[in-house]
Amino acid sequence: MGATGYRLGGSVQVDLDDAAGWLGEAQRRLAAGEAGLALAAAGRAHDAVLAQVLEDEPDAEWAEPARAQLRELVDGARRTLAEAALATGEQHIARSAAEAALVADPFDEVAGRLLMRVHRAGGEPARALAVYAHQAERLATELGTDPSAETQALHLAILRDEQPPAAAEPAVSGGAESLGLVGRSAELRRLRDAWNDAADRHPGLVLVVGEAGIGKTSLCDELARIATSTGGTLLAARCYEAEHSLFLQPIIDAIGGAVRTLPPRILRDLAGDHAPALAGLVPDVATALGLGPPAARVRPETERRRAFEAVTAFIRGLADRGPVLFSLDDLHNAGLASVELVHFLVRQARSSRLLVTATVRAEEGAHVIDQLAGIAERLELGPLTAPAVERLAAAAGQAEHADGILRQTRGHALFVVETLRALAAGDTAVPASLEAAVLDRVRRAGRPVDEVVRAAAVLGSSFDPTVLAALLGQAQPAVMSRCEDALAARLLVVAGRDYEFANDLVREVLYATTPVPTRVAYHRHAADLLTHRPEAMAAHASAAEDWLRAARAWLLAGEQALARPHPTTRSTC
Ligand SMILES: Nc1ncnc2c1ncn2[C@@H]1O[C@H](COP(=O)(O)OP(=O)(O)O)[C@@H](O)[C@H]1O
Ligand SMILES: [Mg+2]
Repeated sequence: MGATGYRLGGSVQVDLDDAAGWLGEAQRRLAAGEAGLALAAAGRAHDAVLAQVLEDEPDAEWAEPARAQLRELVDGARRTLAEAALATGEQHIARSAAEAALVADPFDEVAGRLLMRVHRAGGEPARALAVYAHQAERLATELGTDPSAETQALHLAILRDEQPPAAAEPAVSGGAESLGLVGRSAELRRLRDAWNDAADRHPGLVLVVGEAGIGKTSLCDELARIATSTGGTLLAARCYEAEHSLFLQPIIDAIGGAVRTLPPRILRDLAGDHAPALAGLVPDVATALGLGPPAARVRPETERRRAFEAVTAFIRGLADRGPVLFSLDDLHNAGLASVELVHFLVRQARSSRLLVTATVRAEEGAHVIDQLAGIAERLELGPLTAPAVERLAAAAGQAEHADGILRQTRGHALFVVETLRALAAGDTAVPASLEAAVLDRVRRAGRPVDEVVRAAAVLGSSFDPTVLAALLGQAQPAVMSRCEDALAARLLVVAGRDYEFANDLVREVLYATTPVPTRVAYHRHAADLLTHRPEAMAAHASAAEDWLRAARAWLLAGEQALARPHPTTRSTC
C-alpha cells in the first residue's frame, strides 16, 4: 500500500487515486451532458472518500499530506455529486451533498450556490434566498467582504424569478476521448447513451449483432472500460459452445467474478433470503458465506425458479448500490436457460440501474435474437469504413497498403488487423490466425457448405450458381440451398445474378486449403464447362497445367477480343 493507500472497512483497500479518477470522470461526464454517468461516478468517488474520512487516524502525522489530498477530494466529490444530482433531478442527494459541503466550510460559495439552486429547483425559492442571506451575513461579519459577483447574479435571478445563469462550477479536465478502437464512434455513442440511461434508472438490454471477427467483443470491452471508469460495477462472462448445456454457466461465472471483490458483509446483505439458492448455484457465494450444500432436494422447476429469482434479486440489489453493466460475450453459445434468465432479469429490472449487453453472431444467433427481440435493442455492427481502415493502416505504418487491404478485406475488422500484423512481420502469405478464423467459420457452417464453397473458390471471386451445380455434378436446387446457407453464414454475398465471396480472404483461404488433386480436378472440369468463355477456360486449363488447352483457349480469347473493341472483364479464378 502506498502513501495514498488506505484500508476500508477492515478488508477492502481503496486508493485515493481511484477516487480521484472517478471524480475526474464525473466532471468530464458532467461537461459532456451525461448527467447519469456523472452521478454514478461522483457517487462512487464520494462513497470512497467519505468511508476513508471515517477510517482516518486523526493523530497519525505521517498521514498529513494524504489527508490534505483527501480533504480536497471530499470537497470536490460533494460539489460534483450535488451538481450531477441536480442535473438528474435527484433532489435529496443534491441537497445533502451541498449542505454537507457548506457545513464543512460555511464560506464555500460554490456550495452555497449549489444549495441555492437545489432549493430553487425544488420549488422553494425562499429557502434559496435564506441560504444567500445567511452566507452573505457571515462573509460580512467574519471576513468583512461581499459575496462574489457570480453568487450575487444567482441571487438576483432567483429574486426576479429568472432562469439562473449557467453554472460555471464543474472544473473540467481532459475531455478528449481516447478510443481503443477505430471507426466505431456512432455505435459507441449508442452504447454510452444506453449506459447513461441505465445509470439514470432506465434499464436496458442491447444485443450487439454481427458476423464473427467484425468487432463485437472489442466494442463491448470499450463500453466496459467506460462503465468501470464511471463508477459502474461490471459483471462479465463469456459463453462457450462446449459449456452450453451447463445450467446458467455464464451467469455463474459473471456473479462469481463480482462476488470475489465484495466484502462478505455486503454480499450477505445482497443475497438476503436468497442466500441458500444463490450459494447452491454459485460456488464463490457458498465459499464467501461459508454455506454448505443445499439441505433438501427440490423439484427441478422449483430449483430453476429459485435460481432465477436469486440471481435477479442479487443483481438488482447490486444495482441499488450503483449502476451495473452485465456484459455477456457470445450469447449465441449460451444454453436456453441462460437466455431465458437474461429475459427474466431485464423484464424484472424496472427502475434498476442495470444495462445488459450481449454480443451475438449474426450467422448463428437467430434463435437468441428472436427470443429476446421483444425486450432488446439491436445494434448491428457492419464492416469498418474506408477512413477507419486508413487510420489503422497508417497507425501500423502501412498507409500505402490501405486501399489494397480495404479491397481484400472489405473492412472486416479481424481481417484488416491480421493482414496489417502480417505485413508488419514481413509475411506475404495469409497469416495462420486468419486462416484458422476462416476455416472455423466454414466448419461451423457445416460439411455440405464446406464442399460447395471450396468448389466455388475454384470458380472465382464471383460465380454463377448453375455453373457451380454443374461443376459439383449435383442437382441445382441442392446447390442453391447450400449457397443460401453460405449466404446466411456470411461467407457469400449476393452480387447481381451471381454469388460473390464476402471478401477475397475467405476465398483465398478456401482455395489454399483445398487439397491440390481436388483443386486440379475442379479446374479441369471448369475448363470443360466454360468453353463459351475462352478467357475463363484458359485460366482454368492453365491452373490444371493443361498447357495445350490453355494455349488454344488464349488464342480463341485473343481472336474474340480483336473482334470486340471493348471487352468486358470478369473475374475467373
Ligand atoms: N474498431 C476496431 N478498431 C481496431 N481493431 C478492431 C476494431 N474492431 C475489432 N478490432 C480487432 O479485430 C479483431 C476481432 O475483433 P473482435 O471484437 O474480437 O470481433 P468479434 O467479437 O466480432 O468476433 C480483434 O483483434 C480486435 O482487436
Ligand atoms: Mg467476440
